[in-house]
Amino acid sequence: MFSQLPTPALDPILSLTVAFRNDPRREKVDLGIGVYKNSQGETPIMRAVSQAQHIVADTQKTKSYVGLAGCEEFNQSMVDLLLKGTSVLDRVAAIQTPGASGALRMLGDLMKVAQPDTTVWISNPSYVNHKPVMEAAGLKVKYYRYFSPLTKQVDTELMLQDLAGAGVNDVVLLHGCCHNPTGADIDFSAWQAITELAVKNGFTPFVDIAYQGFGDGLEEDAKGLQYMANQVEEMLITTSCSKNFGLYRERTGAAIVIGQSALAAQNAKGKLMTLARATYTMPPDHGAALVKTVLQDQALTTLWKQELSEMQQRLLNLRQTLCNELRNQHNTSQFDFIESHKGMFTVLGFSPEQMGTLREEYGIYGVGDGRINIAGLTEKDIPYVADAIVKVSQR
Ligand code: LMR
Repeated sequence: MFSQLPTPALDPILSLTVAFRNDPRREKVDLGIGVYKNSQGETPIMRAVSQAQHIVADTQKTKSYVGLAGCEEFNQSMVDLLLKGTSVLDRVAAIQTPGASGALRMLGDLMKVAQPDTTVWISNPSYVNHKPVMEAAGLKVKYYRYFSPLTKQVDTELMLQDLAGAGVNDVVLLHGCCHNPTGADIDFSAWQAITELAVKNGFTPFVDIAYQGFGDGLEEDAKGLQYMANQVEEMLITTSCSKNFGLYRERTGAAIVIGQSALAAQNAKGKLMTLARATYTMPPDHGAALVKTVLQDQALTTLWKQELSEMQQRLLNLRQTLCNELRNQHNTSQFDFIESHKGMFTVLGFSPEQMGTLREEYGIYGVGDGRINIAGLTEKDIPYVADAIVKVSQR
């Protein structure tokens, strides 16, 4: 049965983690997978999460099943973090999922059932898993122009030109904040313009927000999404606790549906639950139990918000320090755009060959599409990385 299978292509992000681990060089820097590191180069368990682990260990009385939708208090917390204060709270429904990729797949499967002809429009470029997941769900995928390689910013005009072609059978997938891979976000007026197009032409917005809190702050990062939610009839949202709770391996995320009515949202949730049953039955509990514990306790919530804001601040400092190093030590303003990007990532504008040179000659691991993870830098790496970036840019 398996002898006909071709050798599969390596995952462009996850394969880097393995290659980095196996690289024997002392001088190596992992800027591949989107994981936050502190100044010691560690990815620590957040203090609020660590305290929640003790509470859960001491108070949890059973490991019996939770349910197809996962933990409902967790689901409500995810809705609150994203949509509190909007007008849609009476027509929204959510299920807990194994990470945001699990949420993407569940919503992909839901679209395939609800509207089999759906085409999902994704940004060019986009998160490397968007296209594979949507295609695995049997949906067509189309790209809209997004990023200008020249300015390293969003080309809003071209983006809107393309999205003007999306209609009733289309779903437009947007990054809620901290665009992956570019780090270039749309501004609030672009959110307004896309919303206007959605209302006029009838496409459904789908917002993937996996980095809430890493851009401009927890509430600010949801502003565009909230504006849109208030105007449109239907919307899909995927969210993740991998980054903002540091729960990567616990696979903790949610799929959220805003329906035209409370009944429509509940029916979508029911369908999501039957789809989950046929896929993994129910999501792993531990991460959601920790998030619930943090968010139901005022002191832990305050601590978590403070830690998240420290992480966000550290990312800003790393961006500034890298830019200063490039400007002052190498006399180049070519990479000033790095400072204007948001969240963990930035694309350098390097070709796959240049990214290969960074990896092979300098032991600096970034993704082949030119993405580097700023959150993977430590202060002591910056001079070495800046030097390598300048040298490789001159090839
Ligand atoms: C990333 O983009 O590096 C992360 O979201 C990890 C992943 O699942 O690809």
